[in-house]
Amino acid sequence: MLSPTVSAILGVTWLIVGGIAVGLMLRIFGRNVPTRGRMKAAAIHRALGWVYIGIYLVFLYAMVRKASGYAEFNSLQVMHFTLGLSIFPLLTIKVLIVRRYPRLHSMLPVLGLTVFTLSTVLILLGVGPYLIQKFNAPDTSGKSETELIALGGPLVDQRCQKCHGLDRVFDQKGKKSADLWESTLDRMIGLDPPLADVREPILAFLQNELAAADTPAGAMLTGAALVDARCQKCHTLDRVFSYTKTHDQWRTTVRRYAELLPDHIHADEVEPIAQFLFEKRGKAESPEDKQRKVFEANCASCHNLSRALDHARDNELSPRRWKRVVKRMERLAEERELKVWSEEERDQIAAFLAAQFSETPIDEDD
Ligand code: HEC
Ligand code: HEC
Ligand code: HEC
Repeated sequence: MLSPTVSAILGVTWLIVGGIAVGLMLRIFGRNVPTRGRMKAAAIHRALGWVYIGIYLVFLYAMVRKASGYAEFNSLQVMHFTLGLSIFPLLTIKVLIVRRYPRLHSMLPVLGLTVFTLSTVLILLGVGPYLIQKFNAPDTSGKSETELIALGGPLVDQRCQKCHGLDRVFDQKGKKSADLWESTLDRMIGLDPPLADVREPILAFLQNELAAADTPAGAMLTGAALVDARCQKCHTLDRVFSYTKTHDQWRTTVRRYAELLPDHIHADEVEPIAQFLFEKRGKAESPEDKQRKVFEANCASCHNLSRALDHARDNELSPRRWKRVVKRMERLAEERELKVWSEEERDQIAAFLAAQFSETPIDEDD
């Protein structure tokens, strides 16, 4: 995506190139121009024309990419897109006439002037509002938090309705923690980079006026709102609340979704959701859960957990035999100066692995 500065520089270059090309074209079609001068002007005109088309294609690509991220368009954007797209057929016709239809050459000046006029309006439409915003951006240096909040409110009104209604913002009042407001705002800045100029006051407003209280009750509100918003896309909430899970298990469930649908469930929402679900539908860890955790924490530093699980499935070792395997691993770990499990943890790992797959533990020990 083009940054605003790159866009502005490219836009101005585009107009200058277009302007010179138009000037040359007028010279070519003008009266009393010697043939040599005309040929030279035509050669430069052609080169500039290709530069112009190149920059246009870059803009076109960036515009299509950007438009796909918008939920809805306002009238300014619709106008911008329409003008931008209408240049495409005009340019195509112009190139075709130059190369294929010499008898239509007299149309070229009109086409050229039309394209140049459209590009000028297009750039003014794109750059104008941005420049106005830039010059109107309040000076925030040395402002107190209260002053920033006072600046932020009106800025939210002005700047956050470009792609969706303000209800989208105020519906979330008291339902997002300060941290989540920060990451939401940064996501919006990613969609609309000029917002970066007013990040500080808007963030101050969102965090102070709209954030959930930094208390357990506030965390519950945040979690409930997130579950409402994120967990009903594919099934009802009954499905979610019909299970009880340990904190770790909820975290695993939610993280899986966040990895599957990163644009729907954001990484920093996993913990608030898991915390909420654990409060609502949590259960204590069973001895087996604890054992599994010890196993997972200790046995994956040199090889996959599946190595041990496959071995467990294939060999159905008794707890005592498992203890020997774990001891062997312990020696390997000691050699490599890796953190080594305690004796109690050794028993837990052995018990867990024995319980995993041997339905009838065969104790063929000596
Ligand atoms: C360039 C377009 C654009 C602008 C400008 C914009 N938003 Fe958004 N906003 C979106 C889109 C698209 C979504 C839905 C996708 C998402 O949540 O990332 C959204 C969603 C949201 C949500 C709901 C997200 C959630 O977690 O459920 C909030 C809150 C929000 N915007 C706040 C703001 C605020 C505050 C501003 C002004 C600082 C702003 N938006 C400006 C495009 C925009
Ligand atoms: C992309 C669609 C989708 C979203 C979004 C989604 N789920 Fe699911 N969920 C499924 C599917 C598919 C199943 C498995 C089929 C079934 O059991 O209906 C499932 C099953 C579940 C189950 C039962 C099985 C298990 O893993 O324990 C729980 C609990 C659950 N989801 C919780 C959540 C929570 C919490 C969220 C929000 C963070 C969520 N789901 C969001 C699609 C989704
Ligand atoms: C210091 C690195 C290291 C750690 C930590 C480690 N292993 Fe291993 N593990 C190995 C190596 C190396 C082998 C292959 C050589 C061998 O079998 O002695 C192996 C092999 C195994 C095998 C296959 C044995 C076979 O005969 O095929 C099992 C089962 C196993 N590990 C289980 C565990 C368990 C359970 C833990 C956690 C208690 C663990 N490992 C931790 C390095 C490690």
